[in-house]
Amino acid sequence: MIDKFIADEWKIIEEGFDPKTNRFSESIFSLGNEHMGLRGNFEEGYSGDSLQGTYVAGIYYPDKTRVGWWKIGYPEFFAKVINSTNWIGIDVEIDGNKLDLAHCNVKDFKRVLDMKEGTLTRTFTWIGDEGKETSFVIKRFLSMAENNIACISIAATPLNYSGTFSFTPYLDGDVSNEDSNYGEKFWEEVNRNVNSNEALLTMKTKKTGFILSTAMDTKLILDSEEITVEKKLMSEKLASKEKYVGYKLEIPVEQGCRIEIQKFVSVCTSRDYEEDILEKVTLDKLRSATQKGYEELFKEHCEVMERKWEDSDVVIEGDVKAQQGIRYNIFQLNQTYTGKDPRLNIGPKGFTGEKYGGSTYWDTEAFCFPFYLYTNENVARNLLYYRYLHLERAKENARKLGFKGALYPMVTMDGQECHNEWEITFEEIHRNAAIAYAIYNYTNYTGDRSYLFQYGIEVLVETSRFWADRVNYNPRKDKYMILGVTGPNEYENNVNNNWYTNTMAAWNLEYTLASLDEIKKNDEKRYHELMTKLQLKQDELSKWRDIIDKMYYPYVEELGIFEQNDLYMDKEQMLVKDLPPEVLPLNKHWSWDRILRSCFIKQADVIQGIYFLPERFDVECTKRNFDFYEPRTVHESSLSPSIYSIVASRIGYEEKAYELYLRTARLDLDNYNDDTDDGVHLTSMAGTWAAIVQGFAGVNVINGKLCLNPYVPEQWESYSFKITFRGRKLKIYVHKKQVIVEQLSGEPVSINVFDKEYLSQTGNDISVKI
Ligand code: BGC
Repeated sequence: MIDKFIADEWKIIEEGFDPKTNRFSESIFSLGNEHMGLRGNFEEGYSGDSLQGTYVAGIYYPDKTRVGWWKIGYPEFFAKVINSTNWIGIDVEIDGNKLDLAHCNVKDFKRVLDMKEGTLTRTFTWIGDEGKETSFVIKRFLSMAENNIACISIAATPLNYSGTFSFTPYLDGDVSNEDSNYGEKFWEEVNRNVNSNEALLTMKTKKTGFILSTAMDTKLILDSEEITVEKKLMSEKLASKEKYVGYKLEIPVEQGCRIEIQKFVSVCTSRDYEEDILEKVTLDKLRSATQKGYEELFKEHCEVMERKWEDSDVVIEGDVKAQQGIRYNIFQLNQTYTGKDPRLNIGPKGFTGEKYGGSTYWDTEAFCFPFYLYTNENVARNLLYYRYLHLERAKENARKLGFKGALYPMVTMDGQECHNEWEITFEEIHRNAAIAYAIYNYTNYTGDRSYLFQYGIEVLVETSRFWADRVNYNPRKDKYMILGVTGPNEYENNVNNNWYTNTMAAWNLEYTLASLDEIKKNDEKRYHELMTKLQLKQDELSKWRDIIDKMYYPYVEELGIFEQNDLYMDKEQMLVKDLPPEVLPLNKHWSWDRILRSCFIKQADVIQGIYFLPERFDVECTKRNFDFYEPRTVHESSLSPSIYSIVASRIGYEEKAYELYLRTARLDLDNYNDDTDDGVHLTSMAGTWAAIVQGFAGVNVINGKLCLNPYVPEQWESYSFKITFRGRKLKIYVHKKQVIVEQLSGEPVSINVFDKEYLSQTGNDISVKI
């Protein structure tokens, strides 16, 4: 836990530079624009402890799987998003002395992430030899309007002397990943070129053969006048250093004058452009950006940022830290994924670190999906389509493990499984149902059946086929069982009949059958087309029905709760509150063996199922399960508290809901789990948004109708947010004593507030007393 940043509604402000927390700050000050992103590394370089990280979405490396005992079915590789060409670099020297915050004496250091405009700014004064003071303002942004473009500005003013400044802007492709398995470097140089106009570096990944072209140009501005200085090409350095291009600009600066270097960068990949035109496109984009200039590019970027906030902001009154926390989370989500490219997805760390390899997990469907669905349904549809594009691979994956149908990977970059822990690869099969659930979620919320009919149904059928093959029929009990699985609670492996997995598998089958019926009723042609294409026969469908009817669900009669899995109740039952605080988190203090055999739960498991299927469980049943499982949950996955918080809100446990919300809302800003150095917990950030909208405000769609069941946590005055719902934009304000629904656009629609129906229309707000 750390209390580092000044409370501010729109900014993350750090005052004073502390090398000990540099990695943490680097994670927090990450920026991205869906196409690319980077950690808060310093432009001028830094010789102290740092995790250099510049990432390009979709550019990965298949790092060879490393295990002691190979098991059939293991993925060959672990995909990782790799550190790529460092394009922020600008060495700064004054009278031959290099700026490096690891050695230089600086005062008034301040770093500000402005979330409204999406910029990172550092200001400080460097006190050099003989007390020479130079003030610096260093700012950068990754254009949200032109995703291939980024801009940096370094402005320096010698305060009490005149001296010679030199700037060496460069592109450095000689980078590696800290987590590379064999210390291997992933990039090879294809081409580099530097001339008096611009510099270009083209790199290619080994094995995957992705090509990345990066180009840069600069402008120098002395006291608001653009000036031209000869670009010294540093032939020695260029000759000796591979994968590097740069040049040096030298200029005398008088005391009190302001010298600014603006660096324009263009980053393009062979994912988007054919190899033979890639360099040309990169340079064309660079030239047009340089011509537009910093101010114009910044203006365009801010306009997109404004629109993003317009759609997705949550305003909290009465608690600045809470406001800062939720805005930070929304900011990072919007920086990582905007849904423009259905080949991309959301890595658990976004562009903020190497951990989890930037790959796609079930986190997308289970935790991130509502945020995108409620704020922009087209983005949500692209997330669904991503999985459709991977359907063939998911079928291969199932075949590889000896099953029919499709088993989506637990971790993936391109549709292939690339997780290499067997308990997860082979056993955490519940992920299939989360992918099916997202289709339901989208269809239920938007009312748009076209995705389901055209694409989703194939995913549903193939995931159902997998379940039907993976279940075991137990004739002694006349029940179907699912043996040898890991549920969402990864603190127990190889369990039988995980209640969540069984429930969601049967739900998946049921939803598939219901969807096929619906297609048959509404579009008979498509139905027959599907029956032929997917070779569906009546007896297969009857088998699914039989599995649904006879699925086995472990239950604890005497407590009236679902048993997490067979034998869970045979474990020694203890509560988290009775553990000595020094053993928490368990994963840092207990052996894996001890964890697996304990009753402690890593993250929502039974409660995850209750969260997904609220209409199946009444308040009393939900309470019984919540009261039993929450005290046994250590929430050692950041994904856990928000789900518990939403369920707590549903059963009226308002205080508990808020307490759980707080655990994730500022998880990274306050480094709650002491692990933000590795990058932020992006996918759990979406959960905090959901804890407000689905939890505190109780937004849900039941039988096609939007329902609200809101309250305000005691610590807040009020909160408000916007959602889009079936062609309408709605702003929902929740005050302590009343809820107001303001319709901003679209046709009138009837909405349920506290189970009572109201008509919402533009110009006529709904106002209901709480
Ligand atoms: C969680 C998984 C999650 C993964 C990536 C793990 O700690 O247990 O549910 O998919 O992190 O966020």
